[in-house]
Amino acid sequence: MKGYEISRRAFISKSAGVGITLAAEPFLMETPVLAASLRPAAPSDTVRFGMIGIGMEGSGVLETSIGLPGVECVAACDLYDGRHTLANEIISGVTGKTVPTTRRYQELLDNKDIDCVLVAVPDHWHKSIIVDACKAGKDVYCEKPMTHKVEEGFEIIDAARNTNRIVQIGSQRRSSLCFAKAKELVDQGAIGDVYLAEGILGRNDPCGAWVYPPPSGLSPQNLDWETWLGDAPKRPFDPIRFARWRAYEDYGEGLPGDLYVHTLTGFHYVMGVDAPPKRAQSAGGLFQWKDGRDFPDHMMTLYDYPEFRAAVLMSLNTEEEEVTRFLGTRGLIEVYGDGDHMRIAFQDGKDHEPCGYTDSFPANMRADYAKQWHMENDPAPAAAKLVDGQTYHYPPGYNEFRHHLWNFFNSVRTRQPSVEDAVMGNNASLGCHMANYSYFHRSPAIWDASSGKITG
Ligand SMILES: NC(=O)c1ccc[n+]([C@@H]2O[C@H](COP(=O)([O-])OP(=O)(O)OC[C@H]3O[C@@H](n4cnc5c(N)ncnc54)[C@H](O)[C@@H]3O)[C@@H](O)[C@H]2O)c1
Repeated sequence: MKGYEISRRAFISKSAGVGITLAAEPFLMETPVLAASLRPAAPSDTVRFGMIGIGMEGSGVLETSIGLPGVECVAACDLYDGRHTLANEIISGVTGKTVPTTRRYQELLDNKDIDCVLVAVPDHWHKSIIVDACKAGKDVYCEKPMTHKVEEGFEIIDAARNTNRIVQIGSQRRSSLCFAKAKELVDQGAIGDVYLAEGILGRNDPCGAWVYPPPSGLSPQNLDWETWLGDAPKRPFDPIRFARWRAYEDYGEGLPGDLYVHTLTGFHYVMGVDAPPKRAQSAGGLFQWKDGRDFPDHMMTLYDYPEFRAAVLMSLNTEEEEVTRFLGTRGLIEVYGDGDHMRIAFQDGKDHEPCGYTDSFPANMRADYAKQWHMENDPAPAAAKLVDGQTYHYPPGYNEFRHHLWNFFNSVRTRQPSVEDAVMGNNASLGCHMANYSYFHRSPAIWDASSGKITG
């Protein structure tokens, strides 16, 4: 798979009815929880949602959600009218019906038929919509990263707590079977003590570098540009910023907010981290995509967590397979892509040949050492064993994104806590903000928990 997220809609059409080719290795089976919970819901169980933001990601969120049993979309909202058309194309393609559409998300929050909202708008709008939705009594699924600015996270956490609403953040690694397996293995001590985690991803094409083509005919007549800007500085209508908002600090967070956030979510989940990193130090630069963007196209960040360290390296200048690694004293776990497969390799942490330092011994001394070493360490010929290792793949048709949405609707039904609540979403978002703080301030970024601020 390419090193970036294929569009959800492309995934759905590609995977519909098509078997995924798997190597002759053990399958990672779906967890009993998922299998049991994917029962068809009774009509009374139907969860009715409103969709807010039907762009690249929201179109997939919508199509996936309405394909789940007992889930129904009753209204859709976007500031761009072309996406009202798209929403009803998607919905009527699956259900044969259409839904009312609006430019005003408040209308969805006022609608008593709506239990929850799914939010896939640019990051600078996340906080206001989540908080307004909680206050209106709606549960919320909001795309990652949870926040655009540091202080927004605590407002969201308070809103969710005070209103007792389910808030789930859309970073699907929290629901991925492969990341769950990695967590199980790390918790069991299968790879010993883990002191280092690594996340690597590279893209090398305009689409991967966010050079998205604006919709043709986009204009202030069919887009509410003033509202789209939200609390960002006022500026004249700009179709480039509309389509490529990730590359501008007024609306997005560059590589950290777009891509690091998934890696950090994976680190936090597998390693049981329940706080932001303590310190981050970034380096990087803008080398290839000098199109007026605010963010670098290559970035790497070293993180300090209390019990381990982590490194994230991401580039828009070379394609490289995405991998998340957990490095332990007794082995290595590597999770590929969004989590579509993973492998564990064991290490015994011992010398496998006489120590090379003894090359510095005189011949007799070296020979004595080597003889003794081989006597103590060489396996008897009949006792030699293969070194263990294992690869796991998603089962055919499995998709962690669908699983993540399913977990949200299940929480809405059962009131069980969400698998990625506002605190978890905030911890990952803060790691992204720390990476950018360090890059732009050219200093370390320290998380000061007492003030709830990043300091240099
Ligand atoms: N989980 C993932 O793997 C993943 C992948 C891609 C994007 N995302 C996230 O999804 C979100 C949306 O990204 P995208 O690529 O779909 O963006 P997009 O620009 O393609 O779509 C966003 C849509 O939101 C609409 N919008 C903006 N402000 C609004 C408002 N106040 N009310 C109603 N509609 C509004 C825009 O008109 C636009 O149609 C982002 O937070 C992004 O980080 C997540």
